[in-house]
Parts: sequence; structure tokens; C-alpha cells
Amino acid sequence: MDPLTLDVSGLACSLGRRSLLRDASLSAAVGESLAVTGPSGSGKSTLLACLAGLRRPDAGTVRVCGTDLAALRPAKAAAWRLRTIGFVYQFGELLPELTAVENAALPLLIGGSARLKAYATAERLLDELGVGGVADSPADVLSGGERQRVAVARALSTRPPLILADEPTGALDESATDDVCSLLFGLPERYRCTLVVVTHHPQVARHADRHLVLRTERLLDASVVGV
Ligand SMILES: Nc1ncnc2c1ncn2[C@@H]1O[C@H](COP(=O)(O)OP(=O)(O)OP(=O)(O)O)[C@@H](O)[C@H]1O
Ligand SMILES: [Mg+2]
Repeated sequence: MDPLTLDVSGLACSLGRRSLLRDASLSAAVGESLAVTGPSGSGKSTLLACLAGLRRPDAGTVRVCGTDLAALRPAKAAAWRLRTIGFVYQFGELLPELTAVENAALPLLIGGSARLKAYATAERLLDELGVGGVADSPADVLSGGERQRVAVARALSTRPPLILADEPTGALDESATDDVCSLLFGLPERYRCTLVVVTHHPQVARHADRHLVLRTERLLDASVVGV
């Protein structure tokens, strides 16, 4: 049986003198999605940084696809992250002077893939995600919704088992939010991956298989909190 994509237990994290997470646990398998909501400043982005091995927690274990992040050697961490995790941020965070296809191909090129193969993969993903028509447009002329679709293509390009999205609909209007939500929450089944979405919007979190709330350092099931 495949190991869980995410297997986190007893996680504690503080920044400076402020404790953000205490005894946090979560798990997710291939094909599953999780949403995390919580007040601004409660530590949602910090939690994602711990899941990605970008921040070392004070206590607890984070296993991603069976790898214990505490045992990941710094020299190997970047290459491991490139293969294992795709990131989607609030504004797409594309390189504006590059075209959509160049942006989507970047993780493959950084990982050493041959140029033509990387562009072919990126083009196919853009087509599959409904933005094939803007493949050759510079990123800075794209609409917010198009940017997020291109960002999702970039996140998927190395076919990582885990996608982490931090406020992916935070800069979109209602209609583009619905659109990007359907796309994102369809990914686990379509691409056999696991998705974690941090969001401020309950209507986004509702799409997830499980909704967790980060509140006063605790990561709780939304049904327990009554959200
Ligand atoms: N490097 C750092 N050093 C000290 N404090 C930090 C650092 N990074 C973040 N913080 C603080 O940690 C707290 C949690 O930050 P985090 O970005 O994880 O919150 P968040 O829940 O993602 O908030 P938002 O919803 O506004 O994005 C905030 O109070 C922030 O100011
Ligand atoms: Mg944040």
C-alpha cells in the first residue's frame, strides 16, 4: 500500500516568542484534499512551510510520502521538494516577462529536463487546464483566473504527489473563485495527488474532503469547532 502523502503528528512551531502550533496532527492519502482556515496571523502559512520542509518545527514529525523531513539532508532538500511538492500562491506568482508556457515549464527546466520535452509537457498541461489558448502570452497580460490556472500547471509539471496552495483564490472575484476551486479540488482525483489548500473563505474550504481550523495554536476539525 502507498504510504500516506502526509502524515503529521505532534507538530509544534513557534516564531520568536510566539507559539503558533501545538500538538498538531493531520494525515492525507492520495486522492484526498484538505482545507485549512483560521484567522489572519494564526499560522496557516507557517504550517504549510513546515509541511514543505521550509521551516523546521520545534517538535513533532512531518512525513511526506514516507520521508521524515527531519532526516532530509539540506543539500538534497531542494531537489526533493521540486519532485515532491507543487506550490500555488495567492497571485499566481508567475515571472511576468516569461510566457505562460515558459512559466509552467520552469520546475522541469530547473530539474534538468530537456527543453523541448519540458515545453511539450507544459503545453499539454495548459491545454488540459483550459488555458492552452494563452500559452504564448506573457504572464503579465493574463487575467487573475488565467494566472492561477497557469500556476496550477506549473505546480503539476513535475507530477508531484503533493500540492500546497496558500490563498489560491484570495485575489479572484466570485466567478473566477468558483472556476479555480473546481479546477483545484478536481486535481487529487484527476492527477492522483494530495491537495492542501489554505484559505480565508468557507465557501472554498467546503470543497475539500476535510476542513481543519487553526485556532489558538490548535488544528481542529471544522465540525468540532462548528464552522
Ligand atoms: N520569520 C518570522 N519571524 C517572526 N514572526 C513571523 C515570521 N513569519 C511570520 N511570523 C509571524 O507569525 C504569525 C503567523 O504568520 P503566518 O504567515 O503563518 O499567518 P497566516 O495564518 O498565514 O496569516 P494570513 O492569513 O494573514 O496569511 C504572524 O503573526 C507573523 O507575523
Ligand atoms: Mg498566510
